[in-house]
Amino acid sequence: MSNKILVIGSKGKTGRRVFEKLNRKGADVAPASRSSLIPFDWYDPTTWANAMTGKDSVYVTFQPDLAIPQSVEIITRFVDTAKQAGVRKLVLLSGRGEPKNMDCENIVIGSGLDHTIVRASFFMQNFSEGFWLDEILGGELVVPVGTAKEPFVDADDIADVVVEALLDDAHNGKTYELTGPELLSFKEAVSKIASPLGREIKLTEIGIEDYVAILRDYQLPEDYVWLIRYLFSELLDGRNESIKNDIESVLKCKSSSFGEYVQRTIPAGIWTAPTLITAP
Ligand SMILES: NC(=O)c1ccc[n+]([C@@H]2O[C@H](COP(=O)([O-])OP(=O)(O)OC[C@H]3O[C@@H](n4cnc5c(N)ncnc54)[C@H](OP(=O)(O)O)[C@@H]3O)[C@@H](O)[C@H]2O)c1
Repeated sequence: MSNKILVIGSKGKTGRRVFEKLNRKGADVAPASRSSLIPFDWYDPTTWANAMTGKDSVYVTFQPDLAIPQSVEIITRFVDTAKQAGVRKLVLLSGRGEPKNMDCENIVIGSGLDHTIVRASFFMQNFSEGFWLDEILGGELVVPVGTAKEPFVDADDIADVVVEALLDDAHNGKTYELTGPELLSFKEAVSKIASPLGREIKLTEIGIEDYVAILRDYQLPEDYVWLIRYLFSELLDGRNESIKNDIESVLKCKSSSFGEYVQRTIPAGIWTAPTLITAP
């Protein structure tokens, strides 16, 4: 049976890895996003059918987050379009411990399509490819975190699980919870980056209302401010303070530790401030 795969969000933290890993395995895979070869915009449903027609499986990364109020309506419409386009399987990236995400998961689970749900904890790559990179480079990360520790997960491990789910029907109907192998506070995570770099990176914790005021000072859109307030006030209350071994059971190897992620990321130069080259 053919397995033509579409990766939505193919330039993102997980999508890029899923796309590259599938390519290396010789799979028939195509990239989709607003700026990709195959245009796809979550906020322009007229782009969806074209992107999915002729595809058997789709890796679904929603933007900006399944927690937003419009997600249920959008995912419902998306699943209908996928069915009409002849798609057989959806692999949905979701977040751990998020009720709104579970509403969207249930739409996929009840769709009648083959599916795998991949629920991830906070990605390690948020520190190197995501919203915390600039502050890490600037030497101070300001976050409204409480005392809860997080089992940060490596986006490479997520991508490996997603690839397995896309290629092997043994994962149909499964929901996986993907975590790293250790619980870390943000302070511990930042110090695991700072130590091998030989740099000081300060972790400053502030209250959520002060944090929201800073975001508003930077004139970030209200939707984004709402999402950040939700993520930091709801998710870091201890509900996700546990480790799961689904990565190990799917991949038959241990999940990457934060230290291993740091050692792999340093040679890429992402955390090295650019050096000014002066003309001789
Ligand atoms: N970060 C975390 O810690 C974490 C944890 C658990 C779950 N998640 C979930 O992960 C998902 C994001 O996945 P990711 O981190 O792999 O991706 P990402 O790095 O956030 O995604 C960037 C990709 O999304 C595309 N994109 C942006 N806006 C789009 C739009 N309106 N329509 C279509 N494509 C769009 C971008 O390409 P273009 O610019 O070309 O469109 C790019 O390919 C979210 O649903 C989030 O809730 C994240």
